[in-house]
This record gives sequence, structure tokens and C-alpha cells, in this order.
Amino acid sequence: MIAPDSTAASASAPTVRKAVVPAAGLGTRFLPATKATPKEMLPVVDKPAIQYVVEEAAAAGLDDILMVTGRHKRAIEDHFDHAFELEQALATKGDTVRLDAVRDPARLADIHHIRQGDPLGLGHAVLCARHHVGNQPFAVLLGDDLIDPRETLLSRMLEVRERYRGSVVALMEVDPAQIHLYGCAAVHPTGEEGVVRVTGLVEKPAAGTAPSRYAVIGRYVLDPAVFEVLAHTPPGRSGEIQLTDALQGLAAAGTVHGVVFTGLRYDTGDKADYLRTVVRLACARPDLGPEFTGWLKEFVSGLEDGGTAVGQGHRAA
Ligand code: UTP
Repeated sequence: MIAPDSTAASASAPTVRKAVVPAAGLGTRFLPATKATPKEMLPVVDKPAIQYVVEEAAAAGLDDILMVTGRHKRAIEDHFDHAFELEQALATKGDTVRLDAVRDPARLADIHHIRQGDPLGLGHAVLCARHHVGNQPFAVLLGDDLIDPRETLLSRMLEVRERYRGSVVALMEVDPAQIHLYGCAAVHPTGEEGVVRVTGLVEKPAAGTAPSRYAVIGRYVLDPAVFEVLAHTPPGRSGEIQLTDALQGLAAAGTVHGVVFTGLRYDTGDKADYLRTVVRLACARPDLGPEFTGWLKEFVSGLEDGGTAVGQGHRAA
């Protein structure tokens, strides 16, 4: 294990600047919406899910972002590019608020794209970033996994990586009945609140075999050593090259730590979680929240009263 000697490690730890956002998956859980629209582009209030992810990376100081996309993901590339005709039309109207909203995605960071070709798994998507990332530590943020914008998980992970080196994964305690849906980590305490050493990892463990309740969620800060391991990782579960399997090799060598996250996280690739995300973030919006929350309360009390108000929307006057 690498000792948590913060002074020695942080003195020469290379700064993480690059983020990789895998967004090449097929999104089958959200069909038919995702037949022609990438799931990462589904709107969460008025921004696509993936924009929140890129904003999170930029807020943590990562200024170089590589999106890993695929054949049906052109909309992602367009969203983070300029839209000249639209910008010109808004500028002519003097609509500066919408003009800024349209320009913002392209201004968040230096954004690059690479295509995965065939979606051979998350591990394979990360391996596609090898040439762009080079021999530096880097962050990975899954394009459909939202951490509430009020949280600072990624900054915390970068700070932990500076002190412990190696790789850092984000962990969340989940109901044991749900752990088979995630990668699961066996952990050992470090003596530091909220930071554990990961001793083993297993992807989607069969019922009753999970080593803990700690699920790996979609944020990672990885040592470039992961690329060599990924290059030799055979397809695992569902014939895909799993990032969890590669990290298992690094964990066995004692170089993976976990930051335990207790805040709000949403899997927008899951229908029910997507709905929760939209409602929560809409309620938190100063421009929409007060009116929407009022409507929501009325709607919920209608449900509780036996459903008389169910189906209630805004009717035309
Ligand atoms: P998911 O496990 O959510 O898979 O991928 P998926 O294929 O996208 O969606 P479902 O399960 O069919 O509904 C987790 C993340 O890894 C990316 C996805 O885009 C998502 O951000 N991914 C997955 C890739 O980039 N490439 C892959 O080959 C697989």
C-alpha cells in the first residue's frame, strides 16, 4: 500500500488536467427514446445530461475533455460546437441570455472527440483515450451519471489522488438488494474519514456474493498504468471489456483508493432515476423552482387523496 504521506506525495504528484467522458454506449435501457438520440443528450430541465457532466469537470479545474462517442452520437459533437446560424439569429434579435446559453457548452473547456467504433465496453472506451491522455493521470466521468451540481466529489477525488497517488474511485453505499447492478468494492479503512483502500473489485456480483455494500459510481481518477492493464484485459461480463476488471488488477497491487460519496447522484440512463433527476433539479432552479414546487405539492397531495388530481396539468384557459 502507498502510505498516505500527504507532504511527500503532493510535492511531485502530476496535476490532473484531462477528463475522459465515455458516451458511446447504446443506451438500451432507455429505448425507444435513445433509438436516434444519445441518452447523454436527453434534457434534464433545459440542458442535456452530458452538459452537467462537462460543467462538473470544468468546475474541478479540468480544462481538456475528451468525449468518447460512437456512430449515433453526432448530436453530442454538435452540442459542444458553435452553432453559427442560431448564434447569428439570436445576436440579431439582441437575445443575449439565450445567445450565452447556446455558446456556453463550447466555452466550458477544450473539448475533443474520439469514436469508439464498436461499443465493446466501458474499459474499451477508456482505452480509446490512451493516445490523447498520454502518460498522465486523468479523470473519467460517465456521460449519463450526474452528480448534483451542488456537490464537490470530483475535487475531493483529485485531492485524494494527490496525496495517495495511484487511482481513485467514487463509492456509494447502496441497499444490498441493489448491489448486483453495480461494480462492487472490497475495502479497508485508511484511518481517514470517507477514504478507504480498495482491496478488490467485482463487476455486478451475483446475489449473496458481494464483498460489501460499496458500489462504484461513475467518477474515477486514474493512473495511466490502467491503459496497459486494459490492453490485456479480456472481455468479461456480457462480452464487454470491463473497467472494473482492469481496476481489480490495480487494486490487488494496493494502488486504488475510494472516496465514499454520501451526496446526490443520478443515473440518467435509468428511466426512474432520470425522472427523479429532472424533478429534483427543476425544484432547485431559482427561475422554475417556486412555481414547479407548488404544482408538484398539489399533484402529490392529489395522489394521496386517491388520485383525483392525477393527470392534472396546465389546461388551456
Ligand atoms: P452503461 O452501463 O450505462 O451502458 O454504460 P449503455 O450501453 O450506455 O446503456 P444501457 O445499459 O444499454 O442502457 C456506462 C457508461 O459507459 C459508456 C456509456 O455511454 C455510459 O456513459 N460506454 C459503455 C461506452 O462509452 N462504451 C461502451 O462500449 C459501453
